[in-house]
Amino acid sequence: MKILLTGGSGYIGSVTTELLCDDGHEVVVFDNLERGHREAVDPRAKLMVGDLRDPQPIREAMRQAKPDAVVHFAAYALVGESMQDPHMYFENNLGGGLNLLAAMLESGVKKIIFSSTCATYGQPEVMPMTEALPQKPTNPYGESKLMFETALRWAQERNGIQPVFLRYFNACGATEKYGEDHDPETHLIPNVLKVALGQAPAVPVFGNDYPTPDGTCIRDYIHIVDLARAHILALEKEVTGAFNLGTGTGFSVQQVVETCQQVTGHEIPVALSPRRPGDPACLVAGATKAHEVLGWQPRYPDLQTIVQHAWNWHHAHPHGYRKE
Ligand code: UFG
Repeated sequence: MKILLTGGSGYIGSVTTELLCDDGHEVVVFDNLERGHREAVDPRAKLMVGDLRDPQPIREAMRQAKPDAVVHFAAYALVGESMQDPHMYFENNLGGGLNLLAAMLESGVKKIIFSSTCATYGQPEVMPMTEALPQKPTNPYGESKLMFETALRWAQERNGIQPVFLRYFNACGATEKYGEDHDPETHLIPNVLKVALGQAPAVPVFGNDYPTPDGTCIRDYIHIVDLARAHILALEKEVTGAFNLGTGTGFSVQQVVETCQQVTGHEIPVALSPRRPGDPACLVAGATKAHEVLGWQPRYPDLQTIVQHAWNWHHAHPHGYRKE
C-alpha cells in the first residue's frame, strides 16, 4: 500500500512509519517538523515538509502522492497546554484535520486512520472503558480530537470516507531506533528515566491522595509498537469506527517508579507534589473490540518490558535526537 502519514517525525508517527516500511509499504510523511525530529523520520519514507494549517501544501502532497490511505498523527497533544491556549488546539488539531480531509475529498482518497485518544471520554466512572461510553472531554485537547472524529463521521455518512478512530491510552516504550523525545517532557516514564540518567534529582509525583490503592493515579501503559501494529491492522482490514487501544491493566505512578528502579538499577527519588489539574484518578482500557474486530493483541503488555525498551532507547540517546 501507499500511505500518506502525517506527523511521521513524532513519537508514535515515527514508529508507525518504521513498521510500515518494515512491512514493505510505501510511506510519504507529511510533517511540519515543529515538535518532531527530522532524524525520527525513517529514511525509507519520503518526507514532505508542510503545515496542515495551510490548505495548499497538503492538497499538493495528496495530489502528488495519490495514496491508498492516510494515517493522521500530526497534532498538538498536551492537555495542560490546551487548557492555557484552547485556540491553538482547535486551529491545529481541528483546522489542520479539516484541511487534510478537504485534500482527501478532492483527490478521492477514502480511508483514514486517525490518531485519537482516551481523552475524548473525559473522566468516566466505569472501568474498564469501552467505546460505548459517552464522550465528554474535560479539556480542549480531547475536545479537538473529538471534533475531528465528528467531522470524519459526517464525511463517512455524506462523502463515503472510511475512518478508523484509534483511541490510545498511555503510549510508551520505544524501538531500537525511535523513542520519546518531547520538549518539554511531561510524560511519566521518560521523566522517571531522566532521574535514572542523572539529569534530574527527583521525579515529581502529582498527588498521592487519589482514591486508588496507593493513592497515586492509575494509567494503562501501551507499547508504541503495539499501537503502531494496530494502525497496520486497521489499514489492512475493511473496518471503520472507534477502537480503544490499551492493555486492560492499570499501573499506578508509584508502581511505574518502582518498575523503573528495578529495570535501571538506579535509586529514583520522588518529590511529592500537588495534584496536576485535570488528571483523572484512573484510566484503563476495555480493548475487547480491538481484539475481536482488528485481531489485535498487545505483544508487550508487561510493564517491565515496556520500561526496559524505553530505558534502552534513553540510555543510548541521553539527549534524545540531539547529538551532543
Ligand atoms: N505524572 C507524575 N509525574 C510526572 C509526570 C506524570 O506524577 O512527572 C503522573 C500524572 O499526574 C499522571 C500519570 O503520571 O497521573 C501519567 O501522566 P502522563 O503525563 O504520562 O500521561 P497522561 O495520562 O496525563 O496523558 C496521556 C497522554 C495524553 C492524553 C492522556 C489521556 O499523554 O496525550 O493520556 O488521558 F491526552
